[in-house]
Amino acid sequence: MALISLWQDRHPRTPTTDGEVGGRWDAVVVGGGLTGLTTALLLGRAGKSVLLLEADHIGAGTTGRSTAKLSLLQGTQLSTITRKHSAAVATTYVEANREAQAWVEVFCGDHDVPLQHRTAYTYAQGERGAARARAELGAARAAGLPAEWVDEVPLPFSTHGAVRLDDQLQIDPIELLDALSLQAAAHGVSIIERARVRQVSGKAPVLVETDRGQAEADCVVVATNIPFLDRGGWFARMSPGRSYGLAFRTDDRPVDGMYLSADSPKRSLRDAPSREGHLLLVGGNGHTTGRVASPQGKLDDLRRWTAEHWPDAVETHAWSAQDYLPHHSLPYAGPVLPGATEIFVAGGFSKWGMTNGVAAALALSGQILGGHQEWAEVMQTWTPHELRGLPRGAVANVEVGLELTAGWLRPLTNPGMGAAPGEGDAEVRFDRLGHAPTASSRVGGIERRVSAVCTHLGGIVSWNDAEHSWDCPLHGSRFAPDGAALEGPATCGLKPH
Ligand SMILES: Cc1cc2nc3c(=O)[nH]c(=O)nc-3n(C[C@H](O)[C@H](O)[C@H](O)COP(=O)(O)OP(=O)(O)OC[C@H]3O[C@@H](n4cnc5c(N)ncnc54)[C@H](O)[C@@H]3O)c2cc1C
Ligand code: FES
Repeated sequence: MALISLWQDRHPRTPTTDGEVGGRWDAVVVGGGLTGLTTALLLGRAGKSVLLLEADHIGAGTTGRSTAKLSLLQGTQLSTITRKHSAAVATTYVEANREAQAWVEVFCGDHDVPLQHRTAYTYAQGERGAARARAELGAARAAGLPAEWVDEVPLPFSTHGAVRLDDQLQIDPIELLDALSLQAAAHGVSIIERARVRQVSGKAPVLVETDRGQAEADCVVVATNIPFLDRGGWFARMSPGRSYGLAFRTDDRPVDGMYLSADSPKRSLRDAPSREGHLLLVGGNGHTTGRVASPQGKLDDLRRWTAEHWPDAVETHAWSAQDYLPHHSLPYAGPVLPGATEIFVAGGFSKWGMTNGVAAALALSGQILGGHQEWAEVMQTWTPHELRGLPRGAVANVEVGLELTAGWLRPLTNPGMGAAPGEGDAEVRFDRLGHAPTASSRVGGIERRVSAVCTHLGGIVSWNDAEHSWDCPLHGSRFAPDGAALEGPATCGLKPH
């Protein structure tokens, strides 16, 4: 079941199948989200020949499903970075995000992309949240932000106060992507959609292989949110987080500001201007991809919470999206391997990629063009910063190992005796012992059977009852019922059974 975001529904798009992948380029950028498009535009503007390759269509990934707040107050991100690293690192992180936010504001002004100025809040739902929000206030002030504490928060339910930062931004992310695509094309960037990159190899030139031909480039930027390359072990450095979004029509402007709770369950709120009236966006209930019994239950819980606080709100859209949370809590933008000068990666934006993705694009294009931004150091790959993520990384990778084992053992309790799945339902089972387990599903009356073994590193997929997809609990690859790869580090679909 396709859950379509408000933005993707407002700007429907069918991928073009024009153009064959080929030729020799100064740069190939992989990924048509905010990070890839901004990088392609910056390189195109500098006179480089650039080819952008997108597996689906522009905006099909997380950017098209984002809540799209461009804020320097980012939940409890600054106190987390301060705790794991230092106040100086948090200050540099704010500089990177400030530069990116300013870049987007100027770009939107120059190209008539609407954006709204809003106050951002990190609010507390309980005592624990209040302590976290107070810590965020301290970290934000130490990083030079004019944040302040408010006891009264303009929400229709009681809170334990909030940190507030005025004059932040929110947008419709697809409007931004459309303007970036137009500008990139105007600067000579070739964009090819429906071209999934399967392999990037070699040096000077780098060979980029897709399912629609291959191209050569002096350098390649992999901006696919999580790098799919087997080098560098990127999948082990971050956890995949899936969360949910809902849009509602309301009689009056539903909220004045952009909100994120400091404590769980996470709740994210903003408004969205619309010709049909006021819209309220509600987000939250995130979890590690593939590791909850019922994603549909998460979505329904968010609906119940909204109905409690906005009883007259009428739902218009429901969707889900995925972002990646690096264990050291800093985004990545740099060479794929130490010293590599031809292949770069960007990602791990911890649900703050609307500014971090642009900062990554500014940092990488600067690196490729020979420029230098002091703040880019905070996003560099292969630096000692990553050591701070080792304890969390060790725990996360033990969890991945346990999931791998549990995934292979679970179907043993379901050894192929069951009836065919009902509509919208699915199961993983061993049809024949000694063979890989089968993932069987029935969607739209069609029963499909594919291998349950993830083509990335052999995890056993689990059924996502909200989106009717097979999701891998190890590193977040997702597949359609027929096995086609949807997102995550796997570049090939599940094998037909
Ligand atoms: C629910 C949710 C809410 C969020 N809200 C906010 C917010 O309010 N503010 C904020 O700052 N951030 C937010 N984020 C995070 C932010 O939206 C993302 O970090 C950002 O959009 C990532 O952009 P990207 O371009 O790096 O990735 P994407 O937008 O995912 O783009 C990557 C593209 O690469 C393509 N691709 C993947 N693999 C291949 C391949 N092998 N070959 C070719 N193409 C490939 C994909 O199809 C995709 O189009 C949110 C995230 C989530 C999940
Ligand atoms: S995503 Fe890595 S094993 Fe499935």
